Amino acid sequence: MRLPRNLLARFFANVLALAAVAGAATAEARPYDEIKKSGTLIVASEGQFAPFNFFQGSKLSGFEIDVAEAVVAKMGLKIEWKAIGFDALLAGLKQDRWDMVIASHGITEERSKAVTFTNPHYCSGGVIVSKSDAIKTAADLSGKVVSVQTGTTYLENVKKVAGVKEVKNFPQDTDARAALTTGRVDAWVTDRFVAKAALDSAPAAGLKQGDFLFIERIAAAVSKGNTSLSGEFNKSLAAIMADGSYAKISDKWFKEDVRCKSR
Ligand code: ARG
Repeated sequence: MRLPRNLLARFFANVLALAAVAGAATAEARPYDEIKKSGTLIVASEGQFAPFNFFQGSKLSGFEIDVAEAVVAKMGLKIEWKAIGFDALLAGLKQDRWDMVIASHGITEERSKAVTFTNPHYCSGGVIVSKSDAIKTAADLSGKVVSVQTGTTYLENVKKVAGVKEVKNFPQDTDARAALTTGRVDAWVTDRFVAKAALDSAPAAGLKQGDFLFIERIAAAVSKGNTSLSGEFNKSLAAIMADGSYAKISDKWFKEDVRCKSR
């Protein structure tokens, strides 16, 4: 049977219109009121970045997982966790696949164009790790091969160092680390606390921590412009920073207080 042409055209126009509506609906971030009504905040992290976010058995654990749990409990909500590859986390906010991302993202100008950051939950920086005493400073990276996790500020900052021979990218920071331990690269750039945990957990690997390459403020992110949510999060973050519960969590993981000293 042959359908009349205009009927077919109308059918396809309707399909397109429906797709557009569906697209618009999924692009709509949930404002705080709607989240509050549902009782659950959907938060995505990575789960491969110890001691900040990682799996202990099947349980997502780590410093920023504990911080998020404490903040969100203060907001009177529960968290539904999602564990997603680092590269897909911020993009998922745009598609409204989750309400928030907490995965040690440094606040950068570039990212701020795409998402809204909350206030920082800690301050840290990227350090140089190598197996050699001769590779400690940015200048020492000249002529060297360096591993970093794809999509990170470590990559951005290593790119700025003059004379680096090659930057090798890995989807996970743990792979960037393995590249160094197995001798495929000369240096690995990662977070100072991630480096410390790596050095402490495997002293036999012979890793040495060098200088800071840069420092950064680390924050959770919400969909661009979802300020009702970031505002409530910021209030509760300030509350746990004031009432001693943040200090307790920080001490548990680092034996020091890692909050930013100035905002
Ligand atoms: N702090 C770095 C950045 O902002 C690395 C974050 C990596 N996080 C992770 N969950 N692997 O890009």
